[in-house]
Amino acid sequence: MALFGNFMKLLAVIALVSSLQVLANSEFQWVKLHATEELAWTPCYSGLQCSFLTVPLDYASPATGNASIAIARYPAKCKKSEYRGPLLINPGGPGGSGVDYVVDSGASIATIIGEQYDIVGFDPRGVSYSTPTVYLFETDAERALWSTNTLYPSLNQSADAVAQQWARGQILGQLAVNRNEKNYIQYMTTDNTARDMLRITQAFGYEKLQYWGVSYGSVLGSTFAAMFPDKVGRVVVDGVLDMQAWFSANFTSEMLDTDQVLQTFIDGCAAAGPDACAFHAPTSTEITAKLTALFSSIKVQPIPVITPISYGVVDYTVLRNFVFDAFYTPYALFATLAQSLSDLAKGDAKTLYSVTELPSFECECNTTTPFHANIYEAALAIACGDATPVNDTVVELQALYASERAVSTFADLWGNWRIRCSGWQLHRDDRFKGPFGAPNVSFPLLVIGNTADPVAPLVGAKATAGAFPGSVLLTIDAPGHTSLGAPSTCALGYLREYFQNGTLPAPGTMCQPDDVLFPPTNGTATRGLDAHREELLMAGRTVGQAMRRATARKLV
Ligand SMILES: *[C@@H]1O[C@H](CO)[C@@H](O)[C@H](O)[C@H]1NC(C)=O
Ligand SMILES: *[C@@H]1O[C@H](CO)[C@@H](O)[C@H](O)[C@H]1NC(C)=O
Ligand SMILES: *[C@@H]1O[C@H](CO)[C@@H](O)[C@H](O)[C@H]1NC(C)=O
Ligand SMILES: *[C@@H]1O[C@H](CO)[C@@H](O)[C@H](O)[C@H]1NC(C)=O
Ligand SMILES: *[C@@H]1O[C@H](CO)[C@@H](O)[C@H](O)[C@H]1NC(C)=O
Ligand SMILES: *[C@@H]1O[C@H](CO)[C@@H](O)[C@H](O)[C@H]1NC(C)=O
Ligand SMILES: *[C@@H]1O[C@H](CO)[C@@H](O)[C@H](O)[C@H]1NC(C)=O
Ligand SMILES: *[C@@H]1O[C@H](CO)[C@@H](O)[C@H](O)[C@H]1NC(C)=O
Repeated sequence: MALFGNFMKLLAVIALVSSLQVLANSEFQWVKLHATEELAWTPCYSGLQCSFLTVPLDYASPATGNASIAIARYPAKCKKSEYRGPLLINPGGPGGSGVDYVVDSGASIATIIGEQYDIVGFDPRGVSYSTPTVYLFETDAERALWSTNTLYPSLNQSADAVAQQWARGQILGQLAVNRNEKNYIQYMTTDNTARDMLRITQAFGYEKLQYWGVSYGSVLGSTFAAMFPDKVGRVVVDGVLDMQAWFSANFTSEMLDTDQVLQTFIDGCAAAGPDACAFHAPTSTEITAKLTALFSSIKVQPIPVITPISYGVVDYTVLRNFVFDAFYTPYALFATLAQSLSDLAKGDAKTLYSVTELPSFECECNTTTPFHANIYEAALAIACGDATPVNDTVVELQALYASERAVSTFADLWGNWRIRCSGWQLHRDDRFKGPFGAPNVSFPLLVIGNTADPVAPLVGAKATAGAFPGSVLLTIDAPGHTSLGAPSTCALGYLREYFQNGTLPAPGTMCQPDDVLFPPTNGTATRGLDAHREELLMAGRTVGQAMRRATARKLV
């Protein structure tokens, strides 16, 4: 799941750039587009084309109502005879906007995959511009009052943290019931989005799905392959979540490799030297001790920060989230993490604070833009609505958290997921319940996993590859979340080959990343890549940033 970025300022800058693109096209507005049963393309977002596709809310009972799926494509650039049809993409979340994703990175995805495909981003049902849009709060102000600024409240912050989060989860679950007058939220699940993907593919005039999904997008791709094994054209699942875990809302096993990522930070810092890693100490043991001391001291002494545009307290929860968030894209963020920790150890919290800083909330009380930035509630609706109902009591959840601490020292953050689902009440009896594989998919899947992914351990990728016989697991020997969190021209090259020629890597193939975790500050690192590989690597980085932006949000 979840690849939700906390590096908000960084993301806000990217967001600004793309809203400028939108402005350049200000005549385009989703609300003005009519939903149609066929694809009907309208120019949008500087060079893209948009369409609003009608699908049934409930495929088993079309009279229940309709939903409309917002679709944006980066059109293929090739001779007609070379055209390969639509390639659907999903940036994860759940609840990430595929429209935002393709607006930001369609051209880069085409660079990786090939220009013969339409790169198709869509907002999964319930998400962002797709309608009906899931919402739990009536206004931005109501949402802001409920929210806090950090993604995951640390369950280790106080003795009653689990109980508090349980109570908040009950409120969210009840709000969803109260605000479901139109009776649609329970249909906003992965199985139905898989059905929508088939509908989109067919609307393009194609029979079989071509798809690249990262993170939660792996659940979506695997669910599709399990439900429609004979409709698999080319499917890549990347940063793979274990299906069994996902559909039982038991996220414990997703933390299996998290601490390894922390270890790569510590060992990498020790090896990099004081110039490249500001939090340096001669040995890993000493760095670990420094970090532990920092966590302990911030727990008893949080640090207030006031800047010209906002203010806030850097406390234990903020620090925990900051460290954890860097695990998703270590090659981009470890050096910044080290600098922030080093400054914090000297009592200066501004470096850390400024990385994630957003201007204080201001109400756009008279906005005419319909609400769409709903990743917070969409994530709940999808993740919790997919799963077996969770009915755990506070005592059971505390016992679960205790057992999860044996799996990872970051259970205090990730453990929030099941707690949150414990309040969710909207589950369809006919939701997808497995089997979570298929013996005979019509084309083998390419499954990509990193050796140290903070939330998608390699066992998940192995399980998924095993559940679809003939599929091949490509391993990237690196920390980070999905192939986009650990840019590797080797892996991106295999991805390209799969889409270009249908060729899979040999079983057991292992790729190395091209970047280093702590680049030397004198800038003499040379990768020795040829122009094509350099282009591939830059494209991978761009798509990685777009993924983070499309899935950035606060889970509170
Ligand atoms: C769904 O949309 C189709 C096509 O526009 C329409 O024929 C049908 O009546 C709609 N269904 C409902 C329940 O509104
Ligand atoms: C916080 O973590 C420490 C170390 O893992 C543990 O001993 C302590 O019980 C935890 N406290 C809470 C409130 O969970
Ligand atoms: C897969 O196997 C099942 C059961 O043997 C069969 O019903 C189905 O048609 C097969 N699908 C394909 C794509 O071969
Ligand atoms: C969750 O999964 C773990 C294995 O990852 C298992 O040990 C545990 O019993 C499961 N917990 C629940 C509540 O299902
Ligand atoms: C609110 O928006 C409406 C329509 O755009 C406009 O007519 C009105 O003057 C605005 N009110 C305020 C207080 O800005
Ligand atoms: C959850 O617990 C409540 C109260 O004990 C009970 O009414 C309800 O049936 C339970 N739901 C499930 C799915 O077990
Ligand atoms: C696809 O196969 C052709 C012919 O074997 C080869 O020339 C080409 O390099 C391959 N493309 C990729 C991306 O591997
Ligand atoms: C750059 O730094 C690296 C690591 O500290 C060192 O090995 C290398 O000699 C330096 N290169 C130059 C040109 O200073």
